[in-house]
Amino acid sequence: MLCVPLTVTAKKEVTRFLCAANKHADCIELRLDYFRRKPDLKRLLARCRKPVIVTIRKRAEGGRYGFSSKDRLELYLDAIALDVAYLDVELSSTSLLNAVSTAITQSGSSTQLIVSFHNFRSTDNQELTRVYSAMKKIPGALLKIATHANSIEDNLLMFDLLKRAQKDRLKMIGLCMGDLGQVSRILGLRQGSYLMYAALGKGSAPGQLMLREMKELYRVQITNPHIFGLVGNPVVHSTGYLFHNEQFVRKKKKALYVNFLVRDLKSFLKSFRPLISGLSVTIPYKETIVEQLDSVDKDATAIGAVNTVVRRGRKLRGYNTDFLGVLAALKGVSLKGKQVLVLGAGGVARAACYALMQEKAKVSVVNRTHSKAITLAERMGAEAVPLALIVASPSFDVIINCTSVGMAPEISASPLTLSMLKKISHDKTVVFDTVYTPEHTTLLKYAQSLGLRTVSGVHLFTEQAKAQYHLWRNVL
Ligand SMILES: NC(=O)c1ccc[n+]([C@@H]2O[C@H](COP(=O)([O-])OP(=O)(O)OC[C@H]3O[C@@H](n4cnc5c(N)ncnc54)[C@H](OP(=O)(O)O)[C@@H]3O)[C@@H](O)[C@H]2O)c1
Repeated sequence: MLCVPLTVTAKKEVTRFLCAANKHADCIELRLDYFRRKPDLKRLLARCRKPVIVTIRKRAEGGRYGFSSKDRLELYLDAIALDVAYLDVELSSTSLLNAVSTAITQSGSSTQLIVSFHNFRSTDNQELTRVYSAMKKIPGALLKIATHANSIEDNLLMFDLLKRAQKDRLKMIGLCMGDLGQVSRILGLRQGSYLMYAALGKGSAPGQLMLREMKELYRVQITNPHIFGLVGNPVVHSTGYLFHNEQFVRKKKKALYVNFLVRDLKSFLKSFRPLISGLSVTIPYKETIVEQLDSVDKDATAIGAVNTVVRRGRKLRGYNTDFLGVLAALKGVSLKGKQVLVLGAGGVARAACYALMQEKAKVSVVNRTHSKAITLAERMGAEAVPLALIVASPSFDVIINCTSVGMAPEISASPLTLSMLKKISHDKTVVFDTVYTPEHTTLLKYAQSLGLRTVSGVHLFTEQAKAQYHLWRNVL
């Protein structure tokens, strides 16, 4: 069940919100503490065509405007008299909680009490256990626990608690807040959470996702999906989640793709291993993940980097689809015996060199840190050229930028100046920039101004992602 909180109060905005909520959500939370003055609850409820949760938090509990205790109790009693579906009261508001609980019992109303706990700073396992035990003692209550995630693993603490509630046959809403807690919002319903919150317009808590994203992109309501995701740090710039989720939707696969912001790779792989079916890997883990996997295929071993992981049973196997992406992006470009310049000596440069050596190109590597260019060239059978000497080199047939220079936000930067590019190219030179944000980099603009053929990093991105999907297809 997806619940949208009402966080607007202006007449027109409320009308717009309720119109959309009645159409697209399963449940509506009326956050009455967002109203400056006591609202006309009866009128509001009459306009809601979905089950309603009435919530009135005081400021100390994360509420917007502080109604007095007397006003809060009055509003809750009105809600009970109007037979509202749910009332949400914070565990720490002890006397209010007791009064509301007693009023529900005495009224014989079908209203369900949600007793909730929020920690906007952290997720602490001992605290979770303590709070859960206290909540369990409140007869007939639906439990809600929301805590701030400071690590990706905090989501698993919440999932463990949801499992415990299921064993104890208790209904519970469990989620982590903040960017690192988004995983719990996306996977929470499958982990047994009674409902999950989503935003329609402005959200009511940090990390809350839009209702549309939850339904259409992450399809949070499908049961037992395969879970794929990106591990990296940072992950915000990646658009892989759009590509893969759209692919899963189009191919009607019970699968979804989530970004995992990972600070400790070893701990992540240990704790999330049973949950995930496959992974994409990005900076800074493409190389370090190699030794953490059960096996690595021959191409990834030769490249020394993994960008794709597939789980079979308990075992994780690594692959590299970047080199396949490079080959696909350069499809139609003659490479055999051609002079190719690779700028950079990082992960993408390794994959590019490997792909080029397979095609028997003559590869020169230039890198800011020359020692790394030497190591890469030795490994791949290429030649390392000091930056200062490339202008003296004969012209190149293909030039590939594998550095991060030119990537957003520094979009005016280019790994080569226009005059350098002019000197080392000829009229048939192909310039390929692996940077894909922006699509049209300064380097590609320089190349176009010289009338050269260009290949955007978007092609590499799409092709390596397609190859990833191909690998995952076998476990879907
Ligand atoms: N299209 C795609 O699908 C795709 C996929 C992955 C990556 N990429 C692009 O490829 C870029 C590199 O990724 P990666 O995984 O190879 O990263 P990486 O392993 O961190 O390597 C970064 C490379 O860029 C060089 N570099 C960084 N800042 C520089 C500067 N200011 N001046 C000169 N050289 C600089 C580094 O040189 P040093 O060795 O001297 O530090 C190194 O060679 C990314 O930024 C991204 O834009 C594209």
